[in-house]
Amino acid sequence: MSSSSKQPSIFAGEQKKESPPQLSVDLRNVMRYFASAVTVVTSALDSGELFGLTVSAFASVSLNPPLVLICIRNESNATPLLFKARRYCVNILATDQQPIAEKFSLQGEGGRFQNLDYYIGKGGNPIIQGCIGYIDCKLSQSIDLGDHTLFVGEAVDVKAEKKPPLLYIDRHYVRLAEAD
Ligand SMILES: Cc1cc2nc3c(=O)[nH]c(=O)nc-3n(C[C@H](O)[C@H](O)[C@H](O)COP(=O)(O)O)c2cc1C
Repeated sequence: MSSSSKQPSIFAGEQKKESPPQLSVDLRNVMRYFASAVTVVTSALDSGELFGLTVSAFASVSLNPPLVLICIRNESNATPLLFKARRYCVNILATDQQPIAEKFSLQGEGGRFQNLDYYIGKGGNPIIQGCIGYIDCKLSQSIDLGDHTLFVGEAVDVKAEKKPPLLYIDRHYVRLAEAD
């Protein structure tokens, strides 16, 4: 009796210590096979400093008001900058823009905007030329969730052009076969 009465507390302790990391690994593994479109989120501080990063955790939230969200790792350089800038633009990449996605996801890459074809849009954010489209936003709300922050943006300007998308699955960039 005494050993069985001890079991639950041992299991509970083990669960508390080990389950979250294993589930985190499992979640990461399953998400590898979730195909996603690829965006580059760009922004600018009032000082004129530009920053941006490759983001697949992007979703439409509401049409009226027009809200979208991005989910950014708290350790990313972009996180404190987004809080400061309070604006961002989601640039949806086309198939031929893989080099841009690669550049904007390289850790410590300082020259992300060098040789990039962009202009500053209505919302004050860099807009990358040649994309499928963009959603230029002002920051509406931020939600701190675990090791990421959700940045909800309200669209101030939007543009779309039908083009084949750049996709990402199992750590590889792919293109839609249908689009060829
Ligand atoms: C295809 C792809 C999608 C990514 N999606 C996200 C994302 O949704 N959120 C995020 O925080 N990082 C994402 N990353 C990682 C960042 O792009 C990467 O960590 C980048 O170096 C961050 O730059 P920073 O630390 O200068 O802000 C993604 C990377 C790739 C290659």
